[in-house]
Amino acid sequence: MIRWLVLAAALLIQMQGAPAPRPGGAGPSVGGSIAIDAARRGARIPPTLYGIFYEEINHAGDGGLYAELVRNRGFEDANLPPACVLEDGFIVPPRTPHFDTGRASTWRLRWDTSDPHPGWSLDLSGGGAGTVDLVVDEPLNDATPHSLRVTITEPARGGRGPMLVNSGHWGMAFTSGERYRLSFFARTQGVSAMDATLLTERGAVAGTTSVRIQPGPWRRYETTIAATVTDPRGRLGLAFRPAGRIDLDLVSLFPTRTFRNRPNGLRPDLADAIAALRPGFIRGPGGCFAEGITVESRPQWKRSLGPIETRSGTYSPWGYWSTDGFGYHEFLQFAEDIGADALWVANAGVSCSFRSGTYLPDAEVPALIQDTLDAIEYAIGPATSTWGARRAANGHPAPFPLKYIEIGNEQQGARYGARVKQFAAAIKARYPQIKVALSSWIAGIDRAAIAAAGPIDIVDEHAYKAVNWSVEHFDSFRTYPRDGWDLYIGEFATNSGVGRGNLLAALHDAVYMMSAEKNSDLVKMVSYAPLLENVSKRDWDVNMIHFDSSRLVRRATYHVQRLFAEHLPAVNLPAAVTLDGRAPRPIAGRIGVGTWNTAAEFTDVRVERGGRTVYQSDFSRGSQGWAPVTGRAQGGRGTWSAVEGAYRQSGEVVAFAYVGESDWTNVTITMRARKLSGAEGFLILAGTADGRRVQWNVGGWNNRQSALQAGDAIIGRAVPHHVEAGRWYDVRVEVRDRAVRGYLDGALINEAEFPRVDTVLGIAGREERTGDVIVKVVNTMSEPATLAVRLDGTRVTGRGSVTVLTSANPADENSFDTPNRIVPAVRPLTEMGSPFLHTFPPYSLSILRLATR
Ligand code: AHR
Repeated sequence: MIRWLVLAAALLIQMQGAPAPRPGGAGPSVGGSIAIDAARRGARIPPTLYGIFYEEINHAGDGGLYAELVRNRGFEDANLPPACVLEDGFIVPPRTPHFDTGRASTWRLRWDTSDPHPGWSLDLSGGGAGTVDLVVDEPLNDATPHSLRVTITEPARGGRGPMLVNSGHWGMAFTSGERYRLSFFARTQGVSAMDATLLTERGAVAGTTSVRIQPGPWRRYETTIAATVTDPRGRLGLAFRPAGRIDLDLVSLFPTRTFRNRPNGLRPDLADAIAALRPGFIRGPGGCFAEGITVESRPQWKRSLGPIETRSGTYSPWGYWSTDGFGYHEFLQFAEDIGADALWVANAGVSCSFRSGTYLPDAEVPALIQDTLDAIEYAIGPATSTWGARRAANGHPAPFPLKYIEIGNEQQGARYGARVKQFAAAIKARYPQIKVALSSWIAGIDRAAIAAAGPIDIVDEHAYKAVNWSVEHFDSFRTYPRDGWDLYIGEFATNSGVGRGNLLAALHDAVYMMSAEKNSDLVKMVSYAPLLENVSKRDWDVNMIHFDSSRLVRRATYHVQRLFAEHLPAVNLPAAVTLDGRAPRPIAGRIGVGTWNTAAEFTDVRVERGGRTVYQSDFSRGSQGWAPVTGRAQGGRGTWSAVEGAYRQSGEVVAFAYVGESDWTNVTITMRARKLSGAEGFLILAGTADGRRVQWNVGGWNNRQSALQAGDAIIGRAVPHHVEAGRWYDVRVEVRDRAVRGYLDGALINEAEFPRVDTVLGIAGREERTGDVIVKVVNTMSEPATLAVRLDGTRVTGRGSVTVLTSANPADENSFDTPNRIVPAVRPLTEMGSPFLHTFPPYSLSILRLATR
């Protein structure tokens, strides 16, 4: 008691004194408190809340996690995706009706046909002569219809002779002392020996072996080569003796050391980094990958089993062929190896909605459902069942940890929901223990699909957000319906306005995860996306782990994901953050008008402040005072002029024009606005909030809805809305401090309070195993925050720790040059009472662990 009184008195003195200094001595702290009520338990938090999402994107698998070193080992990489044709250098899917719209999609994808055998070349610099050709006659099997014919017309005379070279996926990483397993199929006329060489980037020998080739039909060969040199950019060279012809297929070079030494396994460094995330579950194989660019090009798990030469490969919607080497069995094995439950995404008979949206007719859905039941049987059926026996034959008699099946990816509408209903009924009838997920649309849940699906275990929402969104929408899960299903955030990331994923992105991801964790009565699973990026082939801007052939970089958000899984309480505790007397920062600045791919005009613009008119337009005399934005990047593409008493923007483009003063606050803007032509309605600009453009987007999103926005982010609710071309609308926008209301023809359409994005947000929970109270706090301000941390309803021992993730600048990123610029730092906390003062650094995530009695 006495100790508590002394601490409390010390705290009072501290709190009444001058603001706590900023760590490092720069600038004052913002004061405040975080109060945690340990006596009131909130929702339980599933131990498997945080998982991972794996997809073949950015060469995550081939040329990444999957340890195969040879690119295009089966010589199938130049194939067109199933059901597609080549037109003017583009892959074109069938122009059949789209599942959602009924109209054929116009989507197409550029396809480079210049190289018939990507990854392979014949090097004649060592003398001799020869040719390589892709051939289809008498293939090894139907799954690998092409093979490579090497014809040596003139062997080496003293030199090395013609050498077939594979450059791998932007280089093969060889480590001195490691052994590499070379396997291939060959048939030959004349050639009787092959010299296989590990080459360094500069062409030196890093290891070599010779293989005798038998004359006659296809035969499999296998050997190992020891590397004597370490080189991250190596290549494989194959030379042939004597002159003659040899056909090759399934040429594979595999490190003998893989993650857990699994055959046909994974790159240990990448797999270890993923395992360290302690994922509760793993979702795969996509994403868009699970859908295909056409329904015919969807992945088919049965084709991804067994010997690699029988796997036909899958065309990834991200623009390349993948081998299916990391197939269904390997996916399940990986789940087991990292202690994660598996979630398999089955195709709903519909290809990617953002691409072609082609689909299988309803009559074929039962076959798809049977295929999914077979997949479940393969994973968890007894070894005596048909597919369970296949699993056992593939080396795994015991069941795999398959727990979830998701039907489709990013789909919408009642028609999709009806398919989910059919799948769910069949799955539940045979496997009641399997949880079935409906894959809802991006940014929100699709109520039509959910309603049509009927009772469903899980709804999967995807949430790719711009910078600040998660801060502005903290706790938004509170407003979701609780309708008997669990919410899964299958893909999320703060991925625009954040470079390639900087500290700020990671902090905003942390805020998003805090919001999910806080609402764990609804949100039961969360996985970041995408997981992996081979830096030589980026298909997506912001990804969690970067790698090349030999190195990896844990990006800032990697550490957030890892820390959240490591410090996962079992139950939520209420926590409230209060910041003291911060200067109000109202929405302020010039007002304006704008367009988005639309031509529009504006007239009778009036701005009032405190009952006084501070601006009144008269466009019959010109557009004095108006400043169109000129930089193209800022939307300066407009053609603005005063025409017939109105201010007209006549191009169907993105354009903004401003008038007024930078210190305008609390304005009421009125005007008349008319859309002339184009895709959308019009924009009214109402100052800036924390440096971001405040705009009322009337008839935005292809003229489907209206919303208030800070930059690109919607603030408040978007409402369905359509603007008629040629009609004058009476517009009124009221700005009061940080609240904005937008009226059209006297009716209130949108209103919202613009939250501050420089703030401190926190949540708390209790870990049952240790009794520790875990407090997660994100400070998004440029100043430190010194908060009184108060724990009610429990007694702290005075011991604990704090883990901090921060950096000097919110724009900092981890890269190959500075891989550890943003890494967590842990230090002990001692002598804490309740309350105790703690300083949260600027732009930081802090995780406090407080031991309790
Ligand atoms: O994660 C990248 C892609 O984003 C996924 O393939 C898709 O589901 C989403 O649109």
